[in-house]
Amino acid sequence: MRIHQHVNPLNKKYLVVPPMPKWSEVYAEPFLPLHLDIGSASGRFLIQLAQKNKGWNYLGLEIRQPMVERANHWKNEMGLQNLYFFFGQAHVVLRPLLESLPMGVLQYVTINFPDPWFKRRHQKRRLITPELVQTLATFLQPHGKIFIQTDVKELSEDIKNSFMNNCHFQTVDTPIEQNHFGVPTERENSVIRLGRYIHRILIERKTEVSKETHLTDN
Ligand SMILES: C[S@@+](CC[C@H](N)C(=O)[O-])C[C@H]1O[C@@H](n2cnc3c(N)ncnc32)[C@H](O)[C@@H]1O
Repeated sequence: MRIHQHVNPLNKKYLVVPPMPKWSEVYAEPFLPLHLDIGSASGRFLIQLAQKNKGWNYLGLEIRQPMVERANHWKNEMGLQNLYFFFGQAHVVLRPLLESLPMGVLQYVTINFPDPWFKRRHQKRRLITPELVQTLATFLQPHGKIFIQTDVKELSEDIKNSFMNNCHFQTVDTPIEQNHFGVPTERENSVIRLGRYIHRILIERKTEVSKETHLTDN
């Protein structure tokens, strides 16, 4: 199978919103707490988590369609009924995807090693934007967590700022030495092999914000 290393998320072929799955046909128990992994790539990280933690549902979102199809094939072969991979460009599909799920299930989000798009003219391709942060604020449950890893210091600072500029989030300010899932992602393994430092960010959805800020939500 030929899988591109990178795709341009701004390509207009990613503007289409695919039909949403029927969640009662996807998950054995659709009302379990949900862990969403954005940029799930091969899916191996979520496959291992779904095998370990039967009390959670897992959802991978990935823009490279062949990877999504292969990951769904693997999870079907393994008979995992708490895992699903969805193809799409997060900026386009995240909101309709979360709207389609049973209300209140989203409790954890991971974003592991988002593409840094170093060149200035490519930075608009980056995954974490104010709009994406606001979508997560709308659907993530109070005290829900977002765990982000990157080996790019400048990107980690931009990401922290994006969340701090949204009144619904606070960062948990202790340095995080380990990925606390006990399952490394594929990129994490290669970054560790290269001996590079990993910036790990834990963000929490606040319970309440003032009335005034609620009124300005979109
Ligand atoms: C550097 S890879 C990291 C993969 C994996 N999370 C890991 O840690 O091994 C970033 C992943 O995000 C996906 N991606 C990038 N932009 C995306 C977008 N806008 N929507 C969905 N997936 C995206 C890429 O296709 C790629 O699989």
